Amino acid sequence: MNIGILGSGPVGLTLGKGLIQSGHHITIGTRNPSKESLQQWIKRQGKQATAGTFRHAAEFGELLLICTSWIGTKKAIEAAGIWNFKTKTVVDVTNPLDGKGPDEHGRFTFTIGHNYSAGEQIQAWLPPDANVVKALSCIGHEKMLLPEFQEGAPTMFIAGNNPEAKKQVTDLLSQIGWQDVADMGRIEMSRSIEPLSLLWAAYGFLNNSNNHAFRLLKK
Ligand SMILES: NC(=O)c1ccc[n+]([C@@H]2O[C@H](COP(=O)([O-])OP(=O)(O)OC[C@H]3O[C@@H](n4cnc5c(N)ncnc54)[C@H](OP(=O)(O)O)[C@@H]3O)[C@@H](O)[C@H]2O)c1
Repeated sequence: MNIGILGSGPVGLTLGKGLIQSGHHITIGTRNPSKESLQQWIKRQGKQATAGTFRHAAEFGELLLICTSWIGTKKAIEAAGIWNFKTKTVVDVTNPLDGKGPDEHGRFTFTIGHNYSAGEQIQAWLPPDANVVKALSCIGHEKMLLPEFQEGAPTMFIAGNNPEAKKQVTDLLSQIGWQDVADMGRIEMSRSIEPLSLLWAAYGFLNNSNNHAFRLLKK
């Protein structure tokens, strides 16, 4: 499948690599496609990878991933052209962080509070027939691919309004190594999923670790 990835940060490149390994073709969208470090990364990935503008990536992808900093997300979507999201599955990996980093206790802050979510906001910015699925927001990029832990497989929590889109994302997650996916319901449930990223980051800050993930235990 052709997949457009909006974002050239650690998340965009990690997921790009994993999707290439799963046999997909990707275009990384960025404000600066000719950036030397990105061009070198593209070369290392081989023929399945290209870089382009946000617009190029959005035109290229049959499915799109949003991997931009929250501060830049609306601008990236506008640059991509909102018509390019119509009828597509859109995986929202963002967390609505204020960009100020952690305080002395490892606490990060959401710009939009806790009665709204990035997932809902992105769905609202896009055409109604774009199917946003929240996924991969509650794990560090270091463990996004083939997340293996001695204690077992971690859980990825997803949410979105369209069951077919969620099935497509669950299949993609399985391809990159996520065997346990918990569907939490409609996109509004992003309000419950996104704060897990605050807990993940705080634990990492306090324990100097990127090597942890959430697992839902069931009886
Ligand atoms: N890092 C993690 O481990 C992790 C894990 C889960 C979720 N997330 C979330 O995933 C998203 C991406 O995180 P990241 O760490 O890969 O990188 P990031 O530094 O949060 O975002 C980098 C991307 O945002 C774009 N961007 C920044 N300002 C912009 C603006 N004004 N207009 C348009 N685009 C702009 C950059 O564009 P250019 O390419 O043009 O520079 C770049 O592609 C974030 O929302 C983050 O909270 C991160």
